[in-house]
Amino acid sequence: MKEQLDGLLQAALKEIDGAGNEEALQELRIKYLGKKGELTAVMKGLGSLSATERPVVGQMANAVKDQLESRLEEKLTQVRDANKREKLQRERLDVTLPGRRLPYGSKHPITLVIEEISEIFAGLGFQVAEGPEVELDFYNFEALNFPKDHPARDMQDTFFVDDSILLRTHTSPVQVRTMLKHAPPVRIISPGTVYRCDSDATHSPMFHQIEGFMVDTGVTFGDLKGVLTTFLTQYFGKGIGVRLRPSFFPFTEPSAEVDIACVMCRGKGCRVCKQSGWLEILGAGMIDPEVYRHVGYDPETISGFAFGMGIERVAMLKYGIGDLRLFFDNDVRFLQQF
Ligand code: PHE
Repeated sequence: MKEQLDGLLQAALKEIDGAGNEEALQELRIKYLGKKGELTAVMKGLGSLSATERPVVGQMANAVKDQLESRLEEKLTQVRDANKREKLQRERLDVTLPGRRLPYGSKHPITLVIEEISEIFAGLGFQVAEGPEVELDFYNFEALNFPKDHPARDMQDTFFVDDSILLRTHTSPVQVRTMLKHAPPVRIISPGTVYRCDSDATHSPMFHQIEGFMVDTGVTFGDLKGVLTTFLTQYFGKGIGVRLRPSFFPFTEPSAEVDIACVMCRGKGCRVCKQSGWLEILGAGMIDPEVYRHVGYDPETISGFAFGMGIERVAMLKYGIGDLRLFFDNDVRFLQQF
């Protein structure tokens, strides 16, 4: 019996040492220690032994069982460790590799133009102010000297919400809102969205403007021309031709349309400037005393100028964009180029 147990132990240990993976070890556990295992069979046979032999052989069998179990456990740990090491080797992670980058978005050309223009005016001491897009008739028209039934209102293709509320047709109401809140001097630039019910290849019912105005003592038309020329030169390049033509706005007197020499043909005449050599780029003028009366400024002691320009138009000229609708299609192939 003792030899049988010894032989069994040696054979089992040898097999365990030779086992290469978890499944083989599991099979060996069943082969020796399972319900029908070889050691189990020996233990079952203990009953047939004499009362003196039984405890001796029983003890031996238990010792063999302990040894097998601990060796199985040991080997299992070894096999698992080896597996883990091998797996780590195979799936090695290079922490120095660059991560996956998210594609960057880019700024919309309208935003770019607003930022560029605001920066130039910041350099001239102008601060940015904003106003609501849903506006009162009072700020959009009345206080800007467009009386009810005045034909100048017809030019503005207004979306009305009701009799006194509308979508602002220009950024000029910010002049009124600012002057009502602040005493002169003021120097403001105001970019924003405006609305007119007009839609074709060159008009969008929603578009953008930048308003600028300055009120102080002794501001002259010369200051207006100087500020605008400085801006246009910085934005479109040195030597760009600038010209002022007489015009009319109810809230400025005198008023002017400001043209720059065509950026495509430099004034020679082409399709873009309709052979005129000039491009109309903004409206401007000296703020009308009637506006000052509405906001409580004294027209006898102060003076100032205002101007407004369409951002889409400026962006089209700056970046050579041929179709207004491209700004609002949100096609990434267009937007990626900025
Ligand atoms: N608000 C005018 C428009 O939209 C432009 C303008 C602004 C003219 C300021 C003069 C002074 O047509």
